[in-house]
Amino acid sequence: MEGPVIRFEGVVKSFGAQRVLDGLDFQVERGQCLAIMGPSGSGKSVILRHAVGLMKPDAGRVLVEGREVSALRHKELSELRRGIGFLFQEGALINWLSVRDNVALPLRENTGLSEREIAERVEAKLDLVKIARHSFDKMPSQISGGMKKRVGLARALVVEPRIILYDEPNAGLDPEISASINQTIREIQERLGTTSIVVEHRVACIKTVADSVLFLEKGRAHLQLPPAEFFASSDPRLRQFLGADPD
Ligand SMILES: Nc1ncnc2c1ncn2[C@@H]1O[C@H](COP(=O)(O)OP(=O)(O)O)[C@@H](O)[C@H]1O
Ligand SMILES: [Mg+2]
Repeated sequence: MEGPVIRFEGVVKSFGAQRVLDGLDFQVERGQCLAIMGPSGSGKSVILRHAVGLMKPDAGRVLVEGREVSALRHKELSELRRGIGFLFQEGALINWLSVRDNVALPLRENTGLSEREIAERVEAKLDLVKIARHSFDKMPSQISGGMKKRVGLARALVVEPRIILYDEPNAGLDPEISASINQTIREIQERLGTTSIVVEHRVACIKTVADSVLFLEKGRAHLQLPPAEFFASSDPRLRQFLGADPD
């Protein structure tokens, strides 16, 4: 397919009187990783929800792999979603399912794979995110926060998505675990050639994983630059935002 994998064109989205996205334009090319930074409540998670058709724009268009997401019918939308891995901000694992069964879930819901094929895929993805084999049958309550995030990542990857959306993959993690998550995200991109968007505020993460960084402000892409130029930018609004950030 030609053209960008993800493209937002003049996207407008309001909730009641609050206009969250106000003519947002950006695109992500195949195999690239775009990081999105912006203040809390600026609409970063709302952007990701539009990309998977969980929200529809009031105006403008969201195109994924050349197709307008809000115009897709139910069946086409499920097909599209099957190609997209989504690591939710909450990272929510299902408490009554083991690590292994949490990761297997999207395969059991969406595919005609045999249990044996499912087991192989699940183990390969848990290996990729560096979960030790003796933890595969543990319950979420028995593993650390960092491990939960990595299991969530394995679950997002298990369908072998062409696109992965990460919503604050480092939130609530200590720096050491963060570094290993970021390394894992980078490796996945290199090994699987996925196109991705990472919503993140940690500079270290963005420098590790992103090819370009978008600064979301007042519902628009205020800046979009490669990480080195982005963090060196003297743009006053960006400097103020970065200065206010504890990381
Ligand atoms: N489903 C919704 N209904 C009403 N308001 C929403 C909804 N989703 C998000 N919002 C509002 O949109 C704004 C942006 O939210 P969000 O994208 O979650 O911010 P963030 O940049 O922190 O991820 C917030 O003010 C939030 O309250
Ligand atoms: Mg958010």
